[in-house]
Amino acid sequence: METLGRVLVVVPTYNERDNLRAIVERVRAAVPDAHVLIADDNSPDGTGEVADGLAGDDDQVHVLHRPGKQGLGAAYIAGFRWGLDEGFDVLVEMDADGSHQPEELPKLLRALAEGADLAIGSRYVPGGRVVNWPQRRELLSKGANIYTRVMLGLPVRDATAGFRAYRAATLEKVGLAGVESQGYCFQVDLTLRTSRHGLRVVEVPITFVERTVGKSKMSGKVMSEALWRIGLWGVTGLPGRIKGPRRP
Ligand code: GDD
Ligand code: MN
Repeated sequence: METLGRVLVVVPTYNERDNLRAIVERVRAAVPDAHVLIADDNSPDGTGEVADGLAGDDDQVHVLHRPGKQGLGAAYIAGFRWGLDEGFDVLVEMDADGSHQPEELPKLLRALAEGADLAIGSRYVPGGRVVNWPQRRELLSKGANIYTRVMLGLPVRDATAGFRAYRAATLEKVGLAGVESQGYCFQVDLTLRTSRHGLRVVEVPITFVERTVGKSKMSGKVMSEALWRIGLWGVTGLPGRIKGPRRP
């Protein structure tokens, strides 16, 4: 198994004031060498100030303040750019609301160390689970994955998953400049690009636990963007301009 180098966990936040401290503490305990970057979209509830407090107390915690709500995808692109510029070797995506359990992060990192270029924490492979999701939400997620598989033919069960670890080299090869997805379809976008570049995508089973504090930011806008973009990629064959070798 290879050593992975420096790990950055990017946590996008919008109105997560009452979730943030616990999740950062859990990441720091689960993987003590990892750094955390909070990418906050100027949350009206004061999440940004909580983030500044956490960063002030711990030099492995950093904050990226963004001017306003621009979507999950845009926050991740900015966070990844920051991490690549700072020389991190692994970039992790994780929600702030406790749905992704930091204690499962070592499993994702192990998959990278064993050779994956992208490790996805998957709800829909054997051993993966969802706890406390309303049936409507579970149907929506499963429907989105079926739609994605039909449109794109991706060999991935949970293409919309938001708990993942990328090698820096994967993001550099795939390129972030052409990524236009603003909302949650960012997840599908990068899965497709990674797979099309012939890179190794591995799904690791995780348990997704619905949040107990605060509200989901899933919206009609997020859903319609996913519908039309994934449809368009299906029809045109690729998201934006993909450089490099492609699988047939
Ligand atoms: N900075 C920023 N800007 N953060 C955002 C934005 C935004 O516009 N929208 C959402 N977030 C943050 C939330 O604060 C949270 O930390 C994380 O992104 C996930 O948002 P949720 O609103 O909790 O997502 P969800 O539980 O409905 O959706 C989950 O399932 C989706 C479908 O599988 C997540 O795991 C998504 O990542 C996943 O795509
Ligand atoms: Mn959530």
